[in-house]
Formats: sequence, structure tokens, C-alpha cells
Amino acid sequence: MFPPQTDEQPETYLESIGTIFARFGADTQDSGNISYGVAAGDQRYFFKTAGIPSDTAPYFDFEGRQQLLRTAARLAESVVHPALPTFHGVIESPGGPVLSYEWRDGEHLRAVRDHREDPTTAYQRFRALPTDELLTALDQVFDLHAGLTAAGWVEGDFYDGSLIYDFARRRLTVMDLDSYRFGPYRNDMGRMFGSSRFMAPEQFSLGAPIDDRTTAFVMARTGLVFLSDGTLNRSSCRATDAQYAVLQEAVTTRYPSYTAFYDAWREAS
Ligand SMILES: Nc1ncnc2c1ncn2[C@@H]1O[C@H](COP(=O)(O)OP(=O)(O)O)[C@@H](O)[C@H]1O
Ligand SMILES: [Mg+2]
Repeated sequence: MFPPQTDEQPETYLESIGTIFARFGADTQDSGNISYGVAAGDQRYFFKTAGIPSDTAPYFDFEGRQQLLRTAARLAESVVHPALPTFHGVIESPGGPVLSYEWRDGEHLRAVRDHREDPTTAYQRFRALPTDELLTALDQVFDLHAGLTAAGWVEGDFYDGSLIYDFARRRLTVMDLDSYRFGPYRNDMGRMFGSSRFMAPEQFSLGAPIDDRTTAFVMARTGLVFLSDGTLNRSSCRATDAQYAVLQEAVTTRYPSYTAFYDAWREAS
């Protein structure tokens, strides 16, 4: 699709292949990454770079950011799913790897804390969708995680900010899975990256094992955030009794694997 390598800096290269119509840099991102929407020919693409080498304000320095992007590329190469933007590969540049993806239209569902209750936000409009439509979107997220789990990937930093929803086309996109890790591992951060609304207890505990049981917990929390008010309050939750029972079990007694959670969820649905 794109050449595997360029001698140009990422932005110069991207300007040479098309028109940059969107830029996600330090004004909106705290990752240190800089990403671009580029129109080239009759296609639109999303390109992601590790940003400026001298930018050391983010948690990861340039080297760490490049490593995360390499993990993201590996994940995108190993799992194909309708909820994931098509991955077009990596372009090596003097400014590090440039990941190329399909551009996905839609609204970012990230809820900024001060506006989380505002009904006009994409986050609240998504939560207010008819139950069927919301369940269809949620099933996409759960199904994607079945594929990720089968390929050996363990959840990291999944939250509403990982989702884009196209309200007109009813299409959900999951992106920014850069913090997922290949295979089970031990918590090496203490409080890991993520929004506490979605996180499992082991993601707050240094040395704790993190594996597909963690993925199951985070997906159940995702269900409770979108179908309910984030609590286990039965009357707040739009799920059926059977579905609610699965979400409840997943965040209390827990399921022994992601597959066990996902099988139970499908059984209940
Ligand atoms: N494939 C895509 N198509 C369109 N927009 C995207 C795509 N992937 C990400 N975005 C948008 O770009 C923003 C930055 O991308 P993200 O992967 O979250 O980068 P960062 O590592 O800086 O958090 C996202 O918040 C989202 O709005
Ligand atoms: Mg992000």
C-alpha cells in the first residue's frame, strides 16, 4: 500500500502523498504521539507516529513510544475484525515508525470528567441509544476481545476513549489498543494506565497477574458503564436479568477466563 520506508520526516512524507486534514498532537493527546488524518487519492487514512523525540513530558519517552507503536502494529497484524480499522502496515522513517490505518468516521466517545453527565456529549448520546443498538455495539466490543484473546492479547487501557461511534451508520470502531500486551504478565506499574471506571483490581496492584480474566472484568465494566450507570444497581441497568447476572458475576466472583465470560454472555443474550 505505502512504501515500507521513507527518508523524509513523517509530516513531510505525509504532505507529499496527500492532504493532511486532521492532526492529533500535544493540544489533544497526552501520549506524546502525533497522529494525522490524510486524504490521498479517493481514500482517507489515519497515520500514527511517536511524535517529537525531544518531547519527554509524556509518561513514555520517544523510545518507549516507538516500542508501544511496534506492539500496536503487531496487534493489528495479528487480528482482523470489523470493529478494527484496516491496518495498512508500517512505514519506517527517520522519525520512527509511521503506522497506517483506514480512517474511520464517527464521534470519539471519550467522556471528559467535567462533562461526563452532559447529555449532548457523544458519550451520553451513545449511552442513550435504543437498547438493541447499544447491545449490538457492545457485542462488537466483546466479540473483538474474543478474537484478541484467542490471538494472545491481554487488555490494557481500554476505556470510552478507545471507541469511535458513527451514529448515522451505526458503526463502532475500536482504536488505540497500543497498551495491550502479548500474553499474561505481572502488573509492573502499580496503578496501571486506564480509567478506574473500567479497571480490574489487579490493575491497581503492583506484581499482580494480569491476563484474560482481567480482560473479562474490563469488558463487564464496559457493559456496566454503557448499559447502566457504572454501578451494579439492578434498576439502573438496561440489560436483561440473565445478562445482568453475567456482568455481575464477571466483576464479583469473576470468570476463570475470557472465553467463560463471553460464552456466558452469549448464552444470556
Ligand atoms: N482509524 C481512525 N480513524 C479516524 N480517527 C481515528 C482513528 N484512530 C484514532 N483516531 C482519532 O485520533 C485520536 C488519536 O488517536 P489515538 O490512537 O488515541 O492516539 P494516542 O496514542 O495519542 O492516544 C483518537 O482520539 C481518535 O479521535
Ligand atoms: Mg488515545
